Amino acid sequence: MDVSILKDKFFELYGAAPLIVRSPGRINLIGEHTDYNEGFVLPAAIDKEMVLAVAKNNTDKCRLHSVDYNESAEFSLKDLKPSDTAWANYILGVADQLKKAGHTIEGFDCVFGGDIPMGAGLSSSAALECGAGYALSELFKLDIEKTQLVKFAQKAEHTFAGVQCGIMDQFASVMGKKDHAIRLDCRSLEFSYFPINLRNYQVVLCDTQVKHSLASSEYNTRRKECERGVAAVKEKYPEVNSLRDISLQMLNEVKEQLDPVVYKRCSFVIEENERLLSGCALLEEGDIAGFGKKMYGSHDGLSENYEVSCKELDFLVDYTRDKEYVVGARMMGGGFGGCTINLVAIDQKDTFIAGIREAYKEKFNIDMKTYEVAVKDGTGRVEVANATA
Ligand code: GLA
Repeated sequence: MDVSILKDKFFELYGAAPLIVRSPGRINLIGEHTDYNEGFVLPAAIDKEMVLAVAKNNTDKCRLHSVDYNESAEFSLKDLKPSDTAWANYILGVADQLKKAGHTIEGFDCVFGGDIPMGAGLSSSAALECGAGYALSELFKLDIEKTQLVKFAQKAEHTFAGVQCGIMDQFASVMGKKDHAIRLDCRSLEFSYFPINLRNYQVVLCDTQVKHSLASSEYNTRRKECERGVAAVKEKYPEVNSLRDISLQMLNEVKEQLDPVVYKRCSFVIEENERLLSGCALLEEGDIAGFGKKMYGSHDGLSENYEVSCKELDFLVDYTRDKEYVVGARMMGGGFGGCTINLVAIDQKDTFIAGIREAYKEKFNIDMKTYEVAVKDGTGRVEVANATA
């Protein structure tokens, strides 16, 4: 996103010089649907981002403008509630969280846009929430600590967007570090930066260009199914609080009492945590091929047991299985559309991209997009000449 375009638009609409914040989308190498089960994830912030320009306006209103939708909207800060203008909710939801936590926010103007494809599973919404939180914290000198910002952004998604998401996307957006993945323990929020040294491999995302409408309702259903599994195990093991505390053996002990669907969901999550931990060990040893196998394992579990894949995602992963230049591939994010993540030999990536695009076009008659992503720093201020505050 060209920051000067945003700055000029801001001046045109509101006649002031704004403070500018960028906030990235994310990939996740492995560890899917584990975050809200207090497990582990391995995301990284990428070079696709939302950019927000903000300034105070000395009223009690916030005026918002989306460059990508070319739409404006205005809201009273006195009575914040979810709006029919869907894109506004990510900013309003964060403002609401800040207010509820006792922070003082006055009227502000905000112009924003970005190059994170929407609905592609790269967390454009989390990037916007995190960017909004960071921008408001800077603008009103709230000095909000990063982990707290992550939590406000996640809560905004729950309350104003209606998705009971885990913490991965917002954490990755705020805490991202150039050339590093974040190995995050979603129970304690302890994390370590994990150098991404993929040597001769490039991360390529293949965007199905589909987003099945089931996505958010099924997401919330999966959460409930996991909770049902935990409740059943808890009857036998009262100390258990989440799937993180449960081994496959413990789950098997209550298998008879469990709905088979709940059993499948829970066993996937337990296995996915194991795959992540052993996958990290493989990466540390430089065994990219071994890590790639774990990615396929993750996809198969997501498709067969967690049932959050779709025919488009399965097709893209299946396409890679006999290509020796792809070491690993899997669906990424919540599922039901969005992207697959692929580790592709750098010297073969053009062959890969041309081949998979052609196959996808033939099968679904859709022009698939691909993104070769680089790993970048998390949410932060963009220094521009003449900026205020
Ligand atoms: C979405 C959610 C995340 C996480 C993933 C699945 O991206 O926002 O919290 O649960 O799905 O891993």
